Amino acid sequence: EGWAIRLRKYQGFWFPQQILPGSMAMQQNFKARPDDVFVLSHPKSGTTWLKALTYAIVTRTKYPFDRHPLLSQNPHECVPLMDRSYSTGQDSEIEAMPSPRILNSHLPYSLLPHSIKSLDCQLIYVCRDPKDVLVSRWFFNNRMRSEGMEPIPFTKAFEMFCEGNSPYGPLWEHVLEYWEESQRRPDKVLFLKYEEMLEEPMRIVKRLAQFVGCPFTPEEEKEGVVEEVVKLCSFDKMKSLEVNISGKLRPEFVTNDAFFRKGGAGDWRNHMDPEMARKLDRVTEQKLEGSGLTLNAVG
Ligand code: PPS
Repeated sequence: EGWAIRLRKYQGFWFPQQILPGSMAMQQNFKARPDDVFVLSHPKSGTTWLKALTYAIVTRTKYPFDRHPLLSQNPHECVPLMDRSYSTGQDSEIEAMPSPRILNSHLPYSLLPHSIKSLDCQLIYVCRDPKDVLVSRWFFNNRMRSEGMEPIPFTKAFEMFCEGNSPYGPLWEHVLEYWEESQRRPDKVLFLKYEEMLEEPMRIVKRLAQFVGCPFTPEEEKEGVVEEVVKLCSFDKMKSLEVNISGKLRPEFVTNDAFFRKGGAGDWRNHMDPEMARKLDRVTEQKLEGSGLTLNAVG
C-alpha cells in the first residue's frame, strides 16, 4: 500500500497486482522465436529510450528517418510490454507480430518465460542509478494517481523503495540477476547503464546494432546514420512530438509526455537531502558488494 498501484509479492519481487496473473500466464505460455530480441529493465531505468533505439536500429533500412513510425507513435507502442499485453488479453497481437520482433518485459531474469531461455534469445538490459530510478518512479506515480488520491510523500516512497517495496522491486536483486547472467553469457545478454547511454550515445548505438546482428556498414557510418538514430530517439525530440497514445497504453492515465520527464542523470539532488542520498547509496553498495557492479553515479 502506498504507491498508486497495488503490489503483490511473488517469488521475491513486488508486482503490480493487475499485471501479475498475466505475467504468470506469459511465463508459462509465451512462445519465443529464435530471432526475437528482448528489451528488459526494472521500470524507470531507461526502457522507453532503449526501446526507441533498438527499434530505430532494426528498422533503419525499412523507413526513412523523416517518415519513421517513431515520429508518430510512442516507443511503447512500437515495442510492446508483453507483461501488460498478457494482462489485457492482447497477447494474440504479440503472436501476430512479424519477425524479427522486439519485445519488452520488466520481469526479473529468474521469472522470464522458459522459451526465451531455451532458445538462447538476445537480451538487452538497462539499469540506472537507483536514486534517479526512485525520483522518476515517484513523479510517474503521482501522475498515475486516480482522482481524489493523495500524492504519496517522497519520504514515504523513499522508505518503501529502500526496503525493496516498489513496483518490480527490490531493484538490486532485479539488476543483479541480469548482471550475473550477462557475466555468464556476454554474447547473449547485453548489460547497459542509462548513464553510459547519456555519455556516449553513438558508441552504445553501434554496440546495440552489433549485438542484435545488424551492425552499421562503413558507408552508413560515413553517411551519418548512427547520428540519425541518436537524433531520432533523443529526449528533446521524443518529448516534443505530438503523439497520441492508443488504447494499449491506458490513455486514461498517461499521455505521451508522461514518459519524457527530465531525461538526465542526477535529478535526485533536487529531491533528496545528502543524508537520504547516502542512505540509499549505502543500501546499493551493500546489496551489490562482491558483484563487481556499481550503480551509484559518481559525483
Ligand atoms: S517506463 O515507464 O518503465 O518505461 O520508464 P523508463 O522509460 O524506464 O524510464 C523513464 C525515464 O527515462 C527518461 N527517458 C529518456 N531519457 C533519455 N532519452 C530518452 N529518449 C528518454 N525517454 C525517456 C524519462 O524522462 C524518465 O526519467 P526521468 O528522470 O523521470 O526524466
